[in-house]
Amino acid sequence: MTFILSVDQGTSSTRAVVIDCNTGVIVAEHNVVLPNIFPKEGFVEILPQQILDTTYECIDAVVTTANSKGIPICDIAGLGITNQRETTVVWDATTGKPLYNAIVWLDNRTNETVKKLVAATPTKTASHFQSVVGLPISPYFSAVKLRWLLDNVPEVAGEGVLFGTVDTWLIWNLTRNLDKGDKGVHVTDVTNASRTMLMNLETLDWDDSMCKFFGVSKKMLPKICSSAEIYGHISHGSMAGKPIAGCLGDQQAALFGQHCFLRGEAKCTYGTGCFMLTNTGTDIVQSKHGLLTTVAYKIGSEPAVYALEGAVAIGGEVVRWLRDNLGIISSSSEVEQLSGTVDSSHDLYFVPAFSGLYAPYWDPTARGLIIGITAYSNSAHIARAALEAVCFQVCEILQSMDADSGIKLQCLRSDGGMTKNQQFLRMQADVLGIPVECRAESSEATAMGAGMAAAKALGVWNVEKLPGDVLTYNPDLGDEERNGKLARWRDAVQRSRGWVN
Ligand code: G3P
Repeated sequence: MTFILSVDQGTSSTRAVVIDCNTGVIVAEHNVVLPNIFPKEGFVEILPQQILDTTYECIDAVVTTANSKGIPICDIAGLGITNQRETTVVWDATTGKPLYNAIVWLDNRTNETVKKLVAATPTKTASHFQSVVGLPISPYFSAVKLRWLLDNVPEVAGEGVLFGTVDTWLIWNLTRNLDKGDKGVHVTDVTNASRTMLMNLETLDWDDSMCKFFGVSKKMLPKICSSAEIYGHISHGSMAGKPIAGCLGDQQAALFGQHCFLRGEAKCTYGTGCFMLTNTGTDIVQSKHGLLTTVAYKIGSEPAVYALEGAVAIGGEVVRWLRDNLGIISSSSEVEQLSGTVDSSHDLYFVPAFSGLYAPYWDPTARGLIIGITAYSNSAHIARAALEAVCFQVCEILQSMDADSGIKLQCLRSDGGMTKNQQFLRMQADVLGIPVECRAESSEATAMGAGMAAAKALGVWNVEKLPGDVLTYNPDLGDEERNGKLARWRDAVQRSRGWVN
């Protein structure tokens, strides 16, 4: 029997699972909440040490659970890592000490930095480098955050400083052997590197002109590797000596974990944000409708596979906001019950543009709004409108995907935490007008993808078909009603734009 351990280091939580490499079944899991820090308006940070501590805690706990189920450590072949993407960490190469808190992908302190960078491009457009790196200049991406750090934290501009996304930070620390005085392995994979704005999508290497544009020294950048190979060995803890052999950004990991291996296959992951990715094979497809071009995965020496991505900043995050900021639910799962107490949002629309709008608008000037409130409206209408907002945003990126590919997607594979809410999936099918598919196990597609990549690199993956039944949610709304709701949503979105400069 062979198993693989997979860590999914997300924005709001860290998870670890142990997967059976012969059946694809998850046999042990552990989850720890990861607090985000909001020091100022627009700032979102995480303590880098907490990213490490929750990861070590999850690895130890899941190994203990596996042991208690009769799975000895010698049967766990290695580790795969998947992570929240774009979140940026800088640290001292000698001491390992972080030089600043991790700046989270959602953070938009860099609005002014973005304006200056756009003004410095020859065409004065945010999309100037899109054909090279697949991304527009936006606060979302790592190079913009790194530029802010170089401008605002003097130590970051010094010698002996390392940059990494969360995968790099984890691998460096997991492989660092303090007893032997060894430094960690400083690597990333192509999928994470493709979210920095510094990697050239064709060469799959750091691009000199992009590094020059952002004023980033290549000395601080990790080596770019494939998504499935042995990067190094864990130096301490319950997995000491085991190879780290898989690494993908979480959205790409979910695409891989959902077995979207063929061109045209797509999935949507509902986590803190929502991310729809469509496999475009070995073609680098440029979007004309506000989507991103990104690396989907690269398995060892095989050619890289690319994807078009529709990114929505606020997905499950809106439920956290209802819970923590508005206090109308006391746990995230209560949103299903509360929104289920009303049969519709009664023409109330909620645009959760907390940090501007991502695809297809890419508008940092938008801010959240709730519109259509009457004396009759209550917390249930707001909760329902919040869930509908996630559905409308995904609908807009699906329409962009259809327009870019010229092919209408017939069915959407879904995964992520929000897919545990059946009422939400029915709403999503209604808004999209196509069936939404979900596997009971697929809320773990992200961890599955990284585990699969690691197991493939180690030659121990023997699963052809994902386990578990597929549940299908069919749309139950006429075209006229659906189009009418979508038009109202778009009207609300337009009203949210241009709220800040
Ligand atoms: O690009 C950001 C994304 O990787 C975050 O994923 O699951 O934390 O919403 P998640």
